[in-house]
Amino acid sequence: MKYHELGYWLTESAKWVDHYYSTLSKRPVRPNLSPGDFTKKLSLSPPEKAQSVKAVFEDFKNIVPDAMTHWQHPKFFAYFPANASPASIFAESLSNSMGAQAMLWQTSPAATEMETVVVDWLRQALGLKDGFKGTIQDTATTATFCAVLTMREKALGFSGLKDGLYGSKKLKIYASDNVHSSIEKAVRLSGIGENNLCKIKLDENLSINHNELENKIKKDINDGHVPAGLILSLGGTSIGASDDILPLMSLAKKYGLYTHIDAAWAGSAMLCPEFRYLWEGVDMADSIVFNPHKWLGAQFDCSIQFLKDPTDQINTLGLRPAYLETLDVEEVTNYNEWTIPLGRRFRALKIWFLMRIYGLEQLRDMLRNHIVWAKELENLFESDENFKVITSSPFGLFTFQLLSEGQGSDEDTKKLLNLINADGECYLTQTLTSKKFVIRVSVGSFETTREDVLRVHAIANKFRKAIN
Ligand SMILES: Cc1ncc(COP(=O)(O)O)c(C=O)c1O
Repeated sequence: MKYHELGYWLTESAKWVDHYYSTLSKRPVRPNLSPGDFTKKLSLSPPEKAQSVKAVFEDFKNIVPDAMTHWQHPKFFAYFPANASPASIFAESLSNSMGAQAMLWQTSPAATEMETVVVDWLRQALGLKDGFKGTIQDTATTATFCAVLTMREKALGFSGLKDGLYGSKKLKIYASDNVHSSIEKAVRLSGIGENNLCKIKLDENLSINHNELENKIKKDINDGHVPAGLILSLGGTSIGASDDILPLMSLAKKYGLYTHIDAAWAGSAMLCPEFRYLWEGVDMADSIVFNPHKWLGAQFDCSIQFLKDPTDQINTLGLRPAYLETLDVEEVTNYNEWTIPLGRRFRALKIWFLMRIYGLEQLRDMLRNHIVWAKELENLFESDENFKVITSSPFGLFTFQLLSEGQGSDEDTKKLLNLINADGECYLTQTLTSKKFVIRVSVGSFETTREDVLRVHAIANKFRKAIN
């Protein structure tokens, strides 16, 4: 394939895109396949001879879509949404078509400068204080890893980068026992070690308990350890739990801890001023991550890390060898120095398209609708004697169990989930909370309607009858 043919094939692919989206709601959300089924459709040896674009494209159409889970389906209520709004897909295809590479300012000036501007648009949109800077990471996992590396180096006076951790005091990171696994991963990979991640049980308000945290910090200091950082959640993955940010931030400041807030999913809701009380104190954080690639509609991948002062993170991660210098320019922003990989995609473009094409007003309407519809659905389950709502959150996520003879049953709830997902009309996933197996309902698809959301109750009832 030559560049001069690309436009033709992109036009052909655009026709397929039209067909895909016009038939999407009729497809099963998740294919009913077993591991290995799809591999049987692939040739296991590499092609020696060139094949026609047409043949490859035909194969794609024939085998790939039917073996995909359709995250843009209006009845996708699993995990968290990974919304790829049409505006962001459009932008992404333009950036892909240019083969953009945004590692340095001079490797794509528009990408770097647009990144600075759209990150600040998002800062304003979320109501964060002036002064926060930020960058676009691939994922929240990377952003959190960068924050933990910075915590480590701040606590070590930046000696770990050169001397390693051997022989240094134990560093301690604090978080709730409900944080996303990316926090464990970051602490493992940073060399701090998972045993030095102090996981504090959620209290009855689903937050880290202030006194328990302070006692733990004091004990660690007495034991000769170094408290390095605190990681708080806004809208945790399992049940949407949020820490009580303001008092915990004050405590962190008292002990000189570096602080990071994981708002990967629920951060989007902060576009709506009425929810901002839920992260009161956020402006005290050193680092905050939120993923526009979840709820907000910026096609994966797109994760914003706000930093109160990027200097510490740049000092931790940034390297500028001679071959990456920008000649004859003294001050230049090279976003690779804020993160781990050198090569970077032009992610700012999809935020620029997304925010302009929908505007904050439409985005807020969508978020509010999802939250209201999820509550309506939760109420349907709550008032149905066959189900029990187990957890509720302010952000469009709740969990429920199936009741058997008036009692919640893990086994029957699991059976119900499997029946619902094998059917394919909607897709739901599970979690464990207080040792109970529960079905999670997460409302957040761009295309979902109130009718789609409320339909989940009827679907659950249809399959319940096959169980009890
Ligand atoms: C609260 C929270 N934090 C972090 C992550 C990790 O996100 P990413 O896939 O961007 O690494 C998730 C993913 O669902 C999440 O829900």
